[in-house]
Amino acid sequence: MSILVTGGLGFIGSHTVVALVEQDFKVVIADNLSNSKKEVLHAIENITKVKIPFYQIDVADEVSLNRLFESYDFKGVIHFAGYKSVGESVTEPLKYYRNNLLSTINIANACKKYGVKKLVFSSSATVYGDNQVPFDETMPLLPTTNPYGETKTMCERILTDFVQVNKEFEVTLLRYFNPIGAHPSGEIGELPNGVPNNLMPYITQVAKGKLKELKVFGDDYPTQDGTGVRDYIHVMDLAEGHVAAFTHITPGLHVYNLGTGLGTSVLEIIHTFERINHLRIPYKVVERRLGDIASSYADVSKAKKELKWSAKRNLEDMCKDAWNFEKNLSIK
Ligand code: WQD
Repeated sequence: MSILVTGGLGFIGSHTVVALVEQDFKVVIADNLSNSKKEVLHAIENITKVKIPFYQIDVADEVSLNRLFESYDFKGVIHFAGYKSVGESVTEPLKYYRNNLLSTINIANACKKYGVKKLVFSSSATVYGDNQVPFDETMPLLPTTNPYGETKTMCERILTDFVQVNKEFEVTLLRYFNPIGAHPSGEIGELPNGVPNNLMPYITQVAKGKLKELKVFGDDYPTQDGTGVRDYIHVMDLAEGHVAAFTHITPGLHVYNLGTGLGTSVLEIIHTFERINHLRIPYKVVERRLGDIASSYADVSKAKKELKWSAKRNLEDMCKDAWNFEKNLSIK
């Protein structure tokens, strides 16, 4: 029996497929290639030496999704497929609400229709809004500052209500903090569309000379050095967190933070990246970015206790692997 991984060619999805295959899970990938490339499949197969069934389908299209559920006896689903650009979600809110909500509803419906009981959902620390750090899973969710974040909160709500009346289902919501880095092979990593919005891909493109300099969004936050603080987690740790979540899943609804529990500032990231890769990253401090919060980091005790999982890789590993991927980038 296979696990269906939707969005399995995306940044987090592809690394999770590798981690699953390494633990001898059989995987089927569904991805519409809207923000990923077919070459990623070959890269995954190069790493794992396993042929992985791939279907280019849109999970928001119920007919093709159901057809896929009819052809396999899935043992569970890990649902990554979704739009994730914060900025684009502000300018195209309907596109985001339609796609992200519809795909999640279709997945839950298909799970019910075909008796697939295990579902892991890709959520985000953004659902905490501007709560007091560290964020823990019992905190009330606060409004986010953009439609992308709202879709994550709404999908969590949809799945919570679904499990409430379908008690035999096993649903886990994973709230990711800031995934960065890449597989150490350098075969897969983050492939942003156009100019990156997120910090690490921006840094690696400055390092490569594709971009001139990094803009640091504000140095007047109430943090250690005034720049924004985030909980950066190596994407392979995050991927292994999914394997742990899938392995430990039991009936009912479960929520876990996947982070390291450590808060790192923008300047700390820049300096670690420079030191570990022997490079200089030119940067200048500009105005704060609209919608940013000062600090976001996780209380990771619940995942550690219940999933027996915690992040193993440090910031140096993240900076080294992110640069190793960008430096050798063959997927264009
Ligand atoms: C990190 C820090 C910026 C870029 C967002 C989404 C979240 C999740 C991940 C995913 C902040 C600063 C950034 C730059 C900078 N979504 N920064 N210069 O904002 O924590 O989270 O991405 O798919 O839902 O909100 O991540 O990497 O954009 O920013 O100074 O060019 O780096 O201000 O402090 P963020 P980020």
